Amino acid sequence: MKLYNLKDHNEQVSFSQAVKQGLGSQQGLFFPLELPEFELTDIDAMLEMDFVSRSSKILSAYIGDEIAAHQLAERVKNAFAFPAPVTQVSNDVACLELFHGPTLAFKDFGGRFMAQMLSYVSGADEQITILTATSGDTGAAVAHAFYGMENVRVVILYPQGKISPLQEKLFCTLGGNIETIAIDGDFDACQALVKQAFDDEELKRAIGLNSANSINISRLLAQICYYFEAVAQLPQEKRNQLVVSVPSGNFGDLTAGLLAKSLGLPIKRFIAATNANDTVPRFLGNGEWQPNATVATLSNAMDVSQPNNWPRVEELFRRKTWRLTDLAYGAVSDETTKLTMRELAEIGYISEPHAAIAYRLLRDNLQEGEYGLFLGTAHPAKFKESVEEILGQTLPLPQELADRADLPLLSHSFKADFAELRKFLLK
Ligand SMILES: Cc1ncc(COP(=O)(O)O)c(C=O)c1O
Repeated sequence: MKLYNLKDHNEQVSFSQAVKQGLGSQQGLFFPLELPEFELTDIDAMLEMDFVSRSSKILSAYIGDEIAAHQLAERVKNAFAFPAPVTQVSNDVACLELFHGPTLAFKDFGGRFMAQMLSYVSGADEQITILTATSGDTGAAVAHAFYGMENVRVVILYPQGKISPLQEKLFCTLGGNIETIAIDGDFDACQALVKQAFDDEELKRAIGLNSANSINISRLLAQICYYFEAVAQLPQEKRNQLVVSVPSGNFGDLTAGLLAKSLGLPIKRFIAATNANDTVPRFLGNGEWQPNATVATLSNAMDVSQPNNWPRVEELFRRKTWRLTDLAYGAVSDETTKLTMRELAEIGYISEPHAAIAYRLLRDNLQEGEYGLFLGTAHPAKFKESVEEILGQTLPLPQELADRADLPLLSHSFKADFAELRKFLLK
């Protein structure tokens, strides 16, 4: 598999290099040179396969012969060791529940696959430092995916006080090779620090820097697989009328969905669903890219005003000669998010703010004869405090969270200052 840097198309790397490097020069994102496509008959046959076999086939279509098929299959099996069920919510709408992994969020798929790939492509005595910024769930998924791995040090930055207390407990209580830093700033500030570190060649070399954000191509490729899994679970007659609504922050999940469509998966259209951090909806409306300051919302993992995967979305549309005007979009306020969560609870489905935003826009967009799917990106209990307050009911705590709820936080606290972070990394 060859990938090119979106900021410099002459910089081309193999899949292994892209996994190790994360980003290209000038912080450019890597993008596949070849965009494979399956025949319709292949897709039909794949939809009959089990999740792991099908996912291995999808990933091998992108990765090619860099990893032998049986090795890839083995690693996919290790990574995707939990289900992604589609749960019926109403007559014409279902939720693809991506929160049945160890950290109860969709990031488990990408995080665990990346850990598998990184250990495969790295030399046995190579020291790696994973530096990543999280708006909540990436941190937990990455921490758990890499916890205890030899030769890997994981450093996670997150915005202090802006992630839910239980989210924080999930990844800031591990210790060992997992170090966490609460940054006095928002998620964009954390992301900017990570980017600065990647621009620092000396630092990069000294600590074997790698990122595990959705900018890493291995994570993105892993996420393609669950869109196929969703379609495989739908009745045949719904498959050609499918509209998928994606709760979006950094737009990795939507990019993966579009890559699934590009492979030939029948998805009629996508909805890019955001909260008040609506840079993309405004851009799709008026063609102007004008990020505002990030605002804190109930769906905190989507509080991103400079989504770093957006260049990949644009590149894919350009390469496929799709029209951006075919991408549906919308932004949902906190007030409407709350009302929607209550509406969902009334029809028997307990949801959390991120998924509720996707559901709202799906409901508002869906046309007669279409079938809607929204992504359930996190378990409602990860947002226990707000969900309980909004719905006026108590949520049982899943075991994964209960186990960590009373452990002490092990995080450091830093200002959003690169010099301080650099010193820490070189320690
Ligand atoms: C629960 C949840 N939903 C949605 C998103 C947005 O996903 P993406 O950043 O891929 O757009 C995130 C990202 O962290 C998340 O944690």
